[in-house]
Amino acid sequence: MPCKSMLIFTKIAELKGFLKQIKSAGHTVGFVPTMGALHNGHISLISISKKASNITVCSIFVNPTQFNDKADLKRYPRTPEKDAAFLEKAGCDVLFMPSVEEIYPTEKKETYDFGYLNTVLEGKYRPGHFNGVAQVVKRLFEIVEPDKAFFGSKDYQQVMIIKALVKQMHSTIEIVNCPILREEDGLAMSSRNMLLSEEERHIAALIPKIMEVAKQLALIKGVDEAKHFVNKEVERFEDMKLEYFEICDVDLHEISKIDPSVKAIALIAVFVGKIRLIDNLALN
Ligand code: PAF
Repeated sequence: MPCKSMLIFTKIAELKGFLKQIKSAGHTVGFVPTMGALHNGHISLISISKKASNITVCSIFVNPTQFNDKADLKRYPRTPEKDAAFLEKAGCDVLFMPSVEEIYPTEKKETYDFGYLNTVLEGKYRPGHFNGVAQVVKRLFEIVEPDKAFFGSKDYQQVMIIKALVKQMHSTIEIVNCPILREEDGLAMSSRNMLLSEEERHIAALIPKIMEVAKQLALIKGVDEAKHFVNKEVERFEDMKLEYFEICDVDLHEISKIDPSVKAIALIAVFVGKIRLIDNLALN
């Protein structure tokens, strides 16, 4: 491995200079972009990248342009020292922690067209979110120029958006979709989980359980029964508010019937208190 201990860069020029040397020595680069507040889900992406690449770069950047809700940006957890120690322990080679000014030196606002994909689910409920994601991911890809980049499937729609972005960029970066990591009680790992109170955390653990029952209902009784169940279950809790629960094909077109020969996925966004959580589950 080219790096003995983890190197930390905050400046684009310095990171690029280092990576140029690495690449000219024939090493491949794996990239894990994050917004920090790291958990084992992120560490699993680092492990997958390490197996697939000679050197792994992780970025930590809380990207302001992807937050449609300013209060959400303000409360987003930030634990940089802990994150750096966690990454070093996981054997990450390079950590890139730029400032907002470094990433956005000017008020440049690109607009991306992801068509249908930007009008459903997260795209519908978080207007402008994917434009911000595309803006920062494109910028990070241009800086790191990785061979492969690794993303968690909890953000299923985000992975699709990034694959579309890479196509639009005519880039050869391979986007690797990695499995969702779950806590012992089934809750999908997320940086936002640490913002939940103890009581909210208990309630949040119901999400994967509700999803599992909904899956069985969808398969046995149909999509409408599953949707009805999820609505009713979430309504039982004052601290829970459902934003959406949909059953879709792999391209995120809503489906009203499960056809065993067509892959289906259930996707949910739900507020527990003020914290918005998402999850998804393959149905067949
Ligand atoms: O999934 C995330 O953490 C972010 O959306 C990403 C991809 C790092 C872009 O800011």
